[in-house]
Amino acid sequence: MKFTVTGSLGNISQPLSKILINAGHQVTIISSNPSKKQEIEKMGAKAAIGSITDIGFLTKSFAGADAIYTMVPPNFGAANYRQYIAEIGKNYAAAIKSSGITRVVNLSSIGAHLSQGTGPIAGLHDVEIELNALEGVAVKHLRAGFFYTNFLQDIGMIKSNNIIGNNYSAQARLAMVHPKDIAEAAAQELQQSFAGKSYQYVISDERKVSDVVKTLGTAIGKPALPWVEFSDEQSFGGMTNAGLPVPVAETFVEMGTAVRKGILWTDYDQNKPKSYGKTKLEDFANEFAEAFN
Ligand SMILES: NC(=O)c1ccc[n+]([C@@H]2O[C@H](COP(=O)([O-])OP(=O)(O)OC[C@H]3O[C@@H](n4cnc5c(N)ncnc54)[C@H](OP(=O)(O)O)[C@@H]3O)[C@@H](O)[C@H]2O)c1
Repeated sequence: MKFTVTGSLGNISQPLSKILINAGHQVTIISSNPSKKQEIEKMGAKAAIGSITDIGFLTKSFAGADAIYTMVPPNFGAANYRQYIAEIGKNYAAAIKSSGITRVVNLSSIGAHLSQGTGPIAGLHDVEIELNALEGVAVKHLRAGFFYTNFLQDIGMIKSNNIIGNNYSAQARLAMVHPKDIAEAAAQELQQSFAGKSYQYVISDERKVSDVVKTLGTAIGKPALPWVEFSDEQSFGGMTNAGLPVPVAETFVEMGTAVRKGILWTDYDQNKPKSYGKTKLEDFANEFAEAFN
């Protein structure tokens, strides 16, 4: 089969493309960076170099594929983060229509059932709505949990202040996933036929924040690593001091409030997946320790 994969050699798209290539499929990978062409071709894929902001380029890159994988990459330069995400969704919808694609596996997020109050996830809600409006196109949204790999961004805080924290409590729940497990779920969906519009949650493990901190702390030789619940203002200050642009920091603080209130998990709790990803928190803790050391 022929697939087009957005997201370049990113956290999910690279392992996803490898699975598809190893299964004997023809894969086109979209990257905005011409210097990635060689690496993409070395993997055995075709490189489509251009931007997901360009509908004409997307149309050409999608044309002829049996199915495509869509995702919205982070863009910290966006003046309005939700609008940026929604616009990429509109670009995908337009290119899907004009290229005649009939099957789409789309990366979404837990919490995408909510239209607001979830930071960047509200943009993925908009993308789901945009793709669901496509007539005659089967769309499967993969609502991924909180990436374990987000915790790699806390290594600086641990090293400099010997704490870890965010604007939610140690008692908050986290439904987490490893990007590799999302790649496996996406590969499975792309290779099988499905109809209509639907979503499924992709989760590897579900724990309390206190459990996550204990497990990661133990892996780096700091079993008593304290979790600090920051105020929204402290969180915002920390992110902007670390160099995040204001609109991005604002949206991430809002996402933290959604974790604090527990609203991200309400639909997931009613529609839990039949199976979970194989990478458990303890597996990721080894990866975390390697990055820490
Ligand atoms: N973090 C979480 O907890 C979480 C939870 C649920 C869902 N998500 C979703 O997951 C996404 C991240 O997925 P990921 O980690 O697989 O992505 P990623 O590795 O961060 O990024 C994918 C790649 O997309 C390419 N790209 C960026 N801008 C582009 C453009 N304008 N045109 C073409 N390609 C472009 C970049 O590669 P090149 O430089 O080669 O172009 C980038 O490396 C988030 O943005 C969010 O939508 C995240």
